[in-house]
This record gives sequence, structure tokens and C-alpha cells, in this order.
Amino acid sequence: MKDVVIGFLGCGNVGGGVWKLLEDFQKELAHRDNLRIRVKKVLVRDVNKSRTCAVPRELLTTDVSEIINDPEISIVVEFMGGEQPATEYMIRALRAGKTVVTANKVAVALNWHRLQAAAQETNVGLYYEASVCGAIPIIDTLNHSLQANRIHYLMGIINGTTNYILSRMYDKGEDYNAVLEDAKRLGLAEPNPASDVEGFDAAYKLSIMSSLAFHARIPFSKVYVEGITHVTAMDIACGKEMGYVLKLLAIAKRDGDSIEVRVHPTFIPTEHPLAQVNGSFNAVYLHGHACQEMMLQGRGAGDMPTASAVVGDIIHASIADVHVHPTFANKADADATLAFEDNWRSRYFVRISAVDKPGVLAKVAGWFAQENVSIATMMQKGSVEDGRVPLIFITHEAPEKAMQAALAAFDPAICTVDSMIRVEK
Ligand code: NAP
Ligand code: HSE
Repeated sequence: MKDVVIGFLGCGNVGGGVWKLLEDFQKELAHRDNLRIRVKKVLVRDVNKSRTCAVPRELLTTDVSEIINDPEISIVVEFMGGEQPATEYMIRALRAGKTVVTANKVAVALNWHRLQAAAQETNVGLYYEASVCGAIPIIDTLNHSLQANRIHYLMGIINGTTNYILSRMYDKGEDYNAVLEDAKRLGLAEPNPASDVEGFDAAYKLSIMSSLAFHARIPFSKVYVEGITHVTAMDIACGKEMGYVLKLLAIAKRDGDSIEVRVHPTFIPTEHPLAQVNGSFNAVYLHGHACQEMMLQGRGAGDMPTASAVVGDIIHASIADVHVHPTFANKADADATLAFEDNWRSRYFVRISAVDKPGVLAKVAGWFAQENVSIATMMQKGSVEDGRVPLIFITHEAPEKAMQAALAAFDPAICTVDSMIRVEK
């Protein structure tokens, strides 16, 4: 039997789930893996706070050096969240010769190069499966199973909180703020939920996932980010009527050395495989030259699904003879040979409020035409209010900059642009 002594950095939603899963799984660990895993110390902010798991009070500490300086602890498991002090604590642990398992996408996306360098200095492991898509084994899949592929694109629903909110708004026409409160209560949301709804959580994950998919460091700063805070029930209802579902999509495409990485609300047709992914479920749809299309789907957030990925990493780290790291040049910046595209091509959903009189439609069509943006569908929705009527357009594919230029030309005395949402096939 191999005894593995570990320390926790944090014990909130995810830490509590990991504690429970390790307790629940003791017998299997002993029988299947010949492992006895013991948590020796748990770093928290407040030792007097009530916990969701039965961690004994005497294990709790507010002093990280009790974990980092303990020679018996060989694996440090981090689920504190945030960039700092989590990153510095993990680097100290790695330099002290301890393998690190983390669920922290912010720390990995922003400081991956530093973490990996520290791990390689002391020949220990850095495991981060839980940092992207909760229980879905997307990191392991990209690192191992799909290594023989040139991945051309991936598209994912990679934030459980926003998918939960948008699914309920789509199904029941519910109000955004009420549903966000439920997502927080269910432990899906980040300690600061602004990171979820403003798209940053998905952008951190996309930076990690696309780096592995394209075998090149894709810095977080290169990801275009737009969240769901401006999305309205009316947009969702109009899209639904036109055969589309709204999702916060993370999109990464590679064509030679040209790369686009973006996170934004996106309409997809109801028959798209990602359209069926609802609630806190996540999914990643990708295309590799050998594997072709593939979709991985599962629970992307929540204590036990995330614990599933963390404990999987702990087991893997405990039995690995050699710790494997990505082989691309892991630096803070992107490789100079890569070009990041900001004039991507997309279709667009545009909702405007237009003055209800003859000739207005021709003017609007003219502003689109000036930038060579072609209209595919148009719908008039609702009745005249304050002399204005809502009009919805879906365009054919056009360059982003042409679309932005067309909308900038709209004359507010004739119509105002209420929403512009990208549409993927
Ligand atoms: P959480 O419930 O807020 O838990 C954070 C824990 O870290 C708490 O126990 C807190 O101590 C401790 N902590 C925070 N800052 C600390 C500091 N400076 N010093 C000492 N202890 C500190 O957060 P969570 O939802 O478990 O998320 C944790 C991490 O997992 C984040 O990186 C998140 O992105 C990631 N993640 C979360 C999910 C999810 O579904 N929630 C899924 C995948 C990944 P106290 O308890 O004393 O306050
Ligand atoms: N807040 C994150 C989400 C947790 O909603 O997806 C999982 O990373």
C-alpha cells in the first residue's frame, strides 16, 4: 500500500467536494490503486467558519507554510481561486518538491509558464484537469488522446453558470438576475460571479484549452471577451422564434499561423449538437484532421463534478512514474510567428428599433449594403411603441469590421441598434 499525504489550499465548494469524494472512495483507492490518501492540513481564511464537509477543526490552518514546509506532504491541492496568493503558494510548493493539483483556471491561464517552469525545476507534476470544464476530461483528451491531430477549431460551452442562466431564460423566459442568484446558491458561480457573466471565466479556460489544442501558448490577453450581461429576454425570444438558441460560446480556430480566439454570446441553430447542452452542463465540439468531429459533454461546474476531476488528478499524480508537461514553448507571450485575427467572419443577429414610416427599411438595407453586408432574413416583432417598431435581421457571413462599420453608420434619428449578436452555423 502506498501512503500519500496531501495538503489542501482552500476548503469551499470544490474543496468540500474533494474531501467528501476522497472519504467516499477510500475502499476503491485501496483495492484498485493500492493507495491510501490522507489529508494532513487544510489552508483556509477563517478556521471558525462552518464547512460543507466533515474536515476536523484541528486540520485547519491559516498559515500556508505549515503545508509548504511539511516534508511529509507530497501533493498540494489548490482550490482557493483567484490569481494571488494562489499562484505564489503553488510556485512555493512546486519549488519545495511537491506536485500541485489545481482547479484554478485564473492562475493557470495567467501564470502557466511560471508554474510549469517551477514544476520542471524540481521534477514534479502540475495537474489542472479541473480548471477547464469541471468533470469533462478535456485536458487529458487534448494532452494525450488527440495528440495525433491537427485541430482546426473548437467551440465550447465552457461556463456552467452562464449556460444555466441562458437555459432557464430560453426555457421559461425567466429574469436574468433571479436565475443568477440560483446559480450562486448551487455553488456553480465563481467566488466573484462577475467573472462568469462577463465571460472572463470562459476566456481563461479557452486560453488553456486552445493552447493545448493548437500546441502553442495562446495568452489570455489575446482572447476577445464579451459576456452575457447585456443579453435580454427579448433577444432570446426573437432568436427562438427564428430557430436559434443563445449560448455563451468559446470559439478557437486555426488556419496555418492565423488564430482567432473569442468568447461571446452566440446564436446557434436549434439542431446544432451544442444547442442541446443545457443547465450546468458544458460541452466542447472540435474538429481534428484525423479524429474529425467530436463532442465531449458533461457537468462543467459544481462540487462533486469538479471533485471528480481533482481526485482523478490526485490519483494520477500519486501513481505516475514520470510527470508529463506540454512540449510547446510555454512562455508568457505568444510565439511571434502567430497572427491573432480580430476581423473574423460571422453571421449576425441585429435587433433595432426603427421609426415606423415608409423608406426606413430601404435606408437600413442601404447602411448594410454600403459595407457589403448581405441580409439573409428579416422579421418585424411586436407593435409600434413611441413611434418605433422592433426589426430583427440575420445577415449572411461578413467580416466583423464591416459589420461594426455598418452599425456605426445607422442614423439614431431613424433607428437605434438594440442588440448585435453573432451567429454560428
Ligand atoms: P470557494 O467556495 O470560495 O472556496 C475558496 C476556499 O479558499 C475557501 O475555503 C477559502 O477559505 C479559501 N481561501 C480563499 N482565499 C484564501 C486565502 N487568501 N487564504 C487562505 N484561504 C483562502 O470557491 P470554489 O467555488 O470552491 O472555487 C475554488 C476554485 O475552484 C476556483 O479557482 C474556481 O475557479 C475553481 N472551480 C470551481 C468550480 C465550481 O463549480 N465552483 C468548478 C471548477 C473549478 P474560507 O472557507 O475560510 O473562506
Ligand atoms: N464558475 C464556473 C462555471 C465553475 O460556472 O463554469 C467551473 O469552472
